[in-house]
Amino acid sequence: MTPRTTKALALLGAALLLTGCGGVGDAARSEGEAGTVGIAMPTQSSERWINDGQNMVAEFEARGFGTDLQYAEDVVEDQVSQIENMITRGADVLVIAAIDGEALGDVLDMAASSDIPVIAYDRLIRGSENVDYYATFDNFEVGVLQGQYIVDALDLENEEGPFNIELFGGSPDDNNAYFFYDGAMSVLQPHIDDGTLEVRSGQTSMEQIATQRWDGSIAQSRMDNLLSAHYSSEDVDAVLSPYDGISLGVIESLRAVGYGTESKPLPVVTGQDAEAASVKSIIAGEQTQTVFKDTRALATQTVDMVEALLAGEEVPVNDTETYDNGVKVVPSYLLEPVSVDVDNYHDVLIGSGYYEESDLQ
Ligand code: GAL
Repeated sequence: MTPRTTKALALLGAALLLTGCGGVGDAARSEGEAGTVGIAMPTQSSERWINDGQNMVAEFEARGFGTDLQYAEDVVEDQVSQIENMITRGADVLVIAAIDGEALGDVLDMAASSDIPVIAYDRLIRGSENVDYYATFDNFEVGVLQGQYIVDALDLENEEGPFNIELFGGSPDDNNAYFFYDGAMSVLQPHIDDGTLEVRSGQTSMEQIATQRWDGSIAQSRMDNLLSAHYSSEDVDAVLSPYDGISLGVIESLRAVGYGTESKPLPVVTGQDAEAASVKSIIAGEQTQTVFKDTRALATQTVDMVEALLAGEEVPVNDTETYDNGVKVVPSYLLEPVSVDVDNYHDVLIGSGYYEESDLQ
């Protein structure tokens, strides 16, 4: 069977499914003249992915596409079967933010044999040649912004310290986590080496500091352990956190042992995604920083890429070197992340219309 006939059969199957379908996910499907885009998102437990999904659906529909949006609640097998279903229902293109970047090889083989192109969204899909493009932010730069924020907040260019820092990493099955870590360590490592920063736990490798599935409660327990084992007589001055959900878990842990008062202030705590709960925490003087990645811009970029791809036009990319997925270098478009704290959140987040004032009260 040729890929074209496979696709024709898949379309027929989809038409049959649509006539009598019911059940989970139907509400997330729409039709469009320009084709159908299968959008596989990891989880609704984090606000950012909800925004990502909604922004893409709105933008695709505005340009005449139908969408099939699915969330897999961080269960890898569910994401695989959701993508299989998108293929069966006749998606013309897939946009995927992987839960486990290494787990999609087989289902992407299936997409390729039906001639369905794939765009990796925000997270690189690894170990497969069937990834056509990658739309994301400059992930190394995200880590640099977090590390540099700590260096500036502690004034490490002038102060000798030593200051105590603990490090948290992202999920070990997410390629981004290594880029965030490498970016942050490119700034922090020299200060660890010269002794201005001290990691009292000694836990500095990605293996030691990773947080499975970016889970804030796992980070909270690890912080509980670090505090009781290494900080009975000393205070923590900074925590490198790669993501807002982790930052809030860490802050919970710190507050539980008395941080957050005048005599025992919270350490500098970084973050990422500018989620509303974390921006509120920044305004309240708890979390110190986050990295804003405008999900509206990523959605628009992705829609531009899909449109060009399906029209057989040149797909816009600005990086053809950085993102090697183990099988090939995936042509990418990188957007710029922005560091946000209490001084600029109003300009950056409310000024750009990303949030209304009332979202942050
Ligand atoms: C990463 C993403 C971050 C953050 C994290 C946890 O892949 O780049 O922005 O959202 O996942 O969801």
